[in-house]
This record gives sequence, C-alpha cells and structure tokens, in this order.
Amino acid sequence: MRTLEWDEPQQALRLIDQRLLPVRLEFLLCRRVDEVSEAIVNMAVRGAPAIGVAAAFGVALAALRSSATDVLDLLADVRRGAESLLAARPTAVNLAWAVQRMMRVAEMPLPTVEKLQLRLLAEAQRMAEEDVLINRRMAEHGAMLIRDGDTILHHCNTGALAAVDWGTALGAIRLAHEQGKRLFVLVDETRPRLQGARLTAWELAQYGIPHALIVDGAAGYFLRRGEVQKVFFGADRVAANGDVANKVGSYMLALAARANDVPVYSVMPTSTIDMSLPDGDLIPIEERDPQEVLGLQLNGDVVTPPGSAARNPAFDVTPHELLTALVTERGVVYPPFVENLRRVFEAG
Ligand code: MRU
Repeated sequence: MRTLEWDEPQQALRLIDQRLLPVRLEFLLCRRVDEVSEAIVNMAVRGAPAIGVAAAFGVALAALRSSATDVLDLLADVRRGAESLLAARPTAVNLAWAVQRMMRVAEMPLPTVEKLQLRLLAEAQRMAEEDVLINRRMAEHGAMLIRDGDTILHHCNTGALAAVDWGTALGAIRLAHEQGKRLFVLVDETRPRLQGARLTAWELAQYGIPHALIVDGAAGYFLRRGEVQKVFFGADRVAANGDVANKVGSYMLALAARANDVPVYSVMPTSTIDMSLPDGDLIPIEERDPQEVLGLQLNGDVVTPPGSAARNPAFDVTPHELLTALVTERGVVYPPFVENLRRVFEAG
C-alpha cells in the first residue's frame, strides 16, 4: 500500500490520513489544490518526500480543476496553486523542489489546455514512481551500514508513511530486517506530534521488527549504557556543508550519541539537499501552533496550567560535525561533507 497515489476514477489524490493512525487507517481524497495544501499544513500527509510528491499532485490538480479555456489563464491558475503549496510548510525543501520541477513543466509552451493538464499529471505520477525507486536505493545503501544484532535508535517517522513507499532511515532498517539481520529498534516517541509512538511503532509492527518505545528524554540513558550501536534519522533539508535540519530532538540525540561514541546516520534523497545554502543556520525552521504542546492530556485533563505559554519549533539543525555519514540514493557520503556533497552533485 502506498502512502499516497493518484485515484484515476476520482481524478484526485488519495492519501493515508496520518492524523488518524494507528487508531484508524483511513484515506483522504484531495480533489483540489487547496485541499492538498491543507493536508500538508495539518499534517494529514507529512515527511519530506511525501509532502514533495503530494505537492506535485497539488500542482497537477490546480491545472485539472481550472476552468481556464486558454493556456495563459491556465498557467495563472497553476501559479496561484503553486504559491499556496509553497506556503504550506517551510523546512522540508522537497516541497519547493517538487513545485519548481512541476512549474518547469507548466512553463513549457504547449498548444492546448488539455495537453498541459495531462503533461502535469504525468509529471506528478513520474515523481511518485521515482520516489519509490530512489527510496529503495537509499535503503540498499543504508542497510549495508547495519550489522546483524544491532540496536538502532530512531527518531520521528521516516518510513513508508514519510514517502510514497519505503522511506528514508526506516527504509534502511526495514531492508536490513528483510535481509535477515537481527535488529532491535528503540523508537523515540517524538513529542509533540508523536510520529515515533504513533507511526514508526505502527510501521515496525507491520514489518515484524522487534522494537520498544522510549520517551525522547531516555535516549541518553540507553546511549550511555552502551545499548545502542547506531542512531538513524532522516532529514528535511541538508545544507551544502552537511548540516541537517530534521525533526526537533535530532540535535540533542546526536549530541548524546557523540558523547558516547555512537555513530549517527542521516538518510535522505538528494532532493532534500539544498546546495544553495552554505550552512544549516540559513534553513528556515517551522514554528508550529503552541497548542500542539499545550494540548497534551492525561486522564482526560489538559496537563498544562491555564495561562502557560509554549514554544514549538518543529525541527532543529544538527551540525555536520556530529554526523558520521549522510546516506543518499547515490551512495553513502562521509566527511569532509562540503567536498563530498559537491562531488555527489557533480556526478549527477
Ligand atoms: O513534521 P514531520 O512529521 O513532517 O517531520 C518529518 C521528519 O522530520 C522526518 O524525519 C523527515 O521528513 C525525514 S524522513 C522522510
């Protein structure tokens, strides 16, 4: 089953509504571009590669639902749709990358409205297929780093749900398991949206991979006791020097891993690498509604006293010095990252 796919009879984007998992597995149909933007904002779809491909279908929907009768009016509708998608979430560069790729197709001169609509839908479908192949290749490179008997500490959700299929860090873990390696995964619950507790634990159970949930603050405890051989997480945007923006908490995890000599691997497609940014301080970090933090309930009651404020950065930046390697579909990239990332892009 894919996290998102084109529903041909409905002419709509069908995606797993990740807000409902693991309680219910339900699908959301997005028939218009604003419904795709909304699904990205409210995190019905989330994870860098997944929001990139969802946005590509969003651009196609802007064209398909347009009532324009000439190509220039159609292009204006598509541009408006693209703007709304770009504003949905700022950190994962896959979103902008996918929208820009779609706009390059939209701006190719084409004689009829219908031809342009079909061209855009075909491009979005191509991106969905490519995403699966790329993630599978990343999984192959990542799985080679995993040894039989490893306990891996994992942050957020980076599995099939974060992409069209397979995912990034969790894809590598899943493949290593399928190769017959005996693994154990310590799953950070990942406050405040609980992507680890809700989504990663659900995926690991589907794959039959032994795992245990831990509160985010317990990571240091397990690292210091020598119970963890590797830390794996994904990335939402990587700067040209290898600094990685990923789900908030990744930085603290990498610090604790370094203090205990545990290697840290960040896994991402090359579409997550933003070579235009020299370092991670330039990556825009999304700050979400404080209610996501303040709304926590225990026994049916909100735990926070009324009047307390909250800050809610959704991501943080792990400086490249704390990372052992970056795993991409083109191979494993080791330090020095500036030179080696440049080489990866030059090789194409
Ligand atoms: O806020 P989210 O759930 O979209 O954040 C997702 C992450 O931080 C993932 O680790 C990241 O997208 C990389 S894995 C595909």
